[in-house]
Amino acid sequence: EDADRLAAFEARVAADEFIEPKDWMPEAYRKTLVRQISQHAHSEIVGMLPEGNWISRAPTLRRKAILLAKVQDEAGHGLYLYCAAETLGTSRDEMTQALLEGRAKYSTIFNYPTLTWADIAAIGWLVDGAAIMNQVPLQRASYGPYARAMVKVCKEESFHQRQGYEAMMALAAGTPEQKAMAQDALDRWWWPSLMMFGPPDDQSPNSEQSMRWRIKRESNDALRQKFVDMTVPQAELIGLSLSDADLKWNKEKGGYDFGTPDWDEFFAVVRGEGPVARERMKARRDAWESGAWVRAAAMAHADKRAARFAA
Ligand code: 3HC
Repeated sequence: EDADRLAAFEARVAADEFIEPKDWMPEAYRKTLVRQISQHAHSEIVGMLPEGNWISRAPTLRRKAILLAKVQDEAGHGLYLYCAAETLGTSRDEMTQALLEGRAKYSTIFNYPTLTWADIAAIGWLVDGAAIMNQVPLQRASYGPYARAMVKVCKEESFHQRQGYEAMMALAAGTPEQKAMAQDALDRWWWPSLMMFGPPDDQSPNSEQSMRWRIKRESNDALRQKFVDMTVPQAELIGLSLSDADLKWNKEKGGYDFGTPDWDEFFAVVRGEGPVARERMKARRDAWESGAWVRAAAMAHADKRAARFAA
């Protein structure tokens, strides 16, 4: 009987139908969606930390206002995605505890430090650029709430990427010190940005099932290739160079050949050994503890209002 339901489910997915919260779905589908969507949400929230560090240090009021807007957007993306995951039967508390206890991941990219203002430009340009590359196909993910959440997120990510590239352009066209700062940031953020797309396809245990059930529409390596092809000309346009001796246009392929990311570094950062991983997790745990009174007050307020209306 479950075999029939699985066959019907797979036929719906193969016909590009959206699966909605109340539809029958294999437990493995529910489980992998909670895994991916909750970790996507954790990435958005943890991603606020490196950028938040520079809101009070932005070079102009304009840059400060733009960065403030972007960090607020990331918080909204996180809340949006937690809501999408909750439609699968998990709770905000369960997801938060999984993160704080190290049982859930967030994107490796946020375990690198933001050392100069140019890092904030590089994050907008490269990290949000990679995020867009990965999230555009997710707008057609088979799970309805996730796909719909991605439509709004992608619109805002485009602003994030544009403002980052524009800030990078300003630095690259600035004084020699500013251009050197931009180049240093590109050198430090290039390879970690390529790692955001996940391990190579032949070391990606979730891909086979996620591709079959149309959660993942393009493979890790395919999206990484698209990102390189789009971003290298952008770097060249503003006179910055990429720290990859193997980077070369391949006419037959119609794309760039490029070097191999340091997968040992990637898997170490996934394991929580990133340069500032401890600081990121401490910041999240401290926020959870110091926010306890706010949650208690909000619950008390909600109970009082409910009692007032019930009376
Ligand atoms: N950082 C941390 N963990 C990673 C990772 C990364 N960059 N790439 C892969 N992993 C983990 C996977 O989560 C998986 O571990 P798990 O089974 O415990 O979850 C393991 O490494 C093997 O990877 P797979 O390729 O088998 O896993 P997936 O099929 O899930 O593919 C993915 C990985 C492409 C990141 C996919 O999960 C995905 O598309 N997630 C949604 C997008 C997302 O999370 N983006 C975060 C970007 S940051 C962001 O959006 C903020 C921006 O606005 C600034």
